[in-house]
Amino acid sequence: MTTEILQPDDAGLSRAREILRDGGLVAFPTETVYGLGGDAANDHAVARIFDAKGRPRFNPLIAHVASLDAARKLARFDHRAERIANAFWPGPLTLVLPLAEGARLSPLVTAGLDTVAIRVPAHPVARALLTEFGAALAAPSANPSGRVSPTRAEHVLSGLSGRIAAVIDGGPCKVGVESTILGLYGPRPVLLRPGGLPVEAIEDLLGTRLDNMAAAERPNAPGQLSSHYAPRARVRLNVRSPEPGEFWLGFGPEAAGAELNLSPAADLVEAAANLFHYLREADARISPDATIAVSPIPDQGLGRAINDRLRRAAAPRPGAG
Ligand code: TXA
Ligand code: MG
Repeated sequence: MTTEILQPDDAGLSRAREILRDGGLVAFPTETVYGLGGDAANDHAVARIFDAKGRPRFNPLIAHVASLDAARKLARFDHRAERIANAFWPGPLTLVLPLAEGARLSPLVTAGLDTVAIRVPAHPVARALLTEFGAALAAPSANPSGRVSPTRAEHVLSGLSGRIAAVIDGGPCKVGVESTILGLYGPRPVLLRPGGLPVEAIEDLLGTRLDNMAAAERPNAPGQLSSHYAPRARVRLNVRSPEPGEFWLGFGPEAAGAELNLSPAADLVEAAANLFHYLREADARISPDATIAVSPIPDQGLGRAINDRLRRAAAPRPGAG
């Protein structure tokens, strides 16, 4: 199959809808990363998502919808969930909620769990596509499983060209790291993944600190396999002065000699937006047995999400000796 590159205009969106209605896959921009969309109610389409990514079927997907109203048809919202959704949707937040009875979703989306992950994205192209399609789109990040998430259409093509019907080119993603995932299925809200919405914003709204769920307790340890977001090269963290031969991925003014600097001004929002693009860039510039040395990143705001992704990029690789 040849992957079509669609423009984010009326013609592109109606072509995307046609492909999706036929059970095909279309990658599309969101404010966090590009998603690989398929009709969330169509078993075949959802199965194709897992195949295209090489993703294990036990790892559930996020259902994307255009509005809170549409989300209420898929999940049960209690008072707490309503408050959080009203405050942060549309935006880079995914809520994991009890599945609604009669929800029009393939069981493959939830991997058979009785909870469902839902997000209302803010990106205008994602919103236009969801409105045009008129139903939920299952969409994981549009990268082969275990690799770095895509923040540009060309990243999507480098990983999935020929495996998906189309990509809508909406330019670079502004946030650059995946959504924050908050579990709202138990007595206490649980942070399942730090991401594009700073954890502190949720904590301020709730007036409490969030429990960070221990990896061992996570349902199916979703997307939380130790090695993830991996470039080919090795990654070494919290490096203030790199060894000779290492590729320095810097942060802040202290890293003036770095080959690439996530944010010379030490701005975490800018660093998040650059993270995945620079990891790919570093990987392309060095030999596969070289090392990317990364400066320390403050563990607050978007820094929490950046450090989470970097720790996974640095984690031991399965089958990597
Ligand atoms: O920003 C994002 O969230 C992007 C864009 C495309 O929306 N999507 C994304 O999807 O990052 P993905 O599949 O790469 O990550 C979704 C995460 C996975 O770790 C998955 O295990 C978790 O959400 N998840 C999905 N359903 C879940 C559930 N019912 N309970 C717990 N975790 C769940
Ligand atoms: Mg992913």
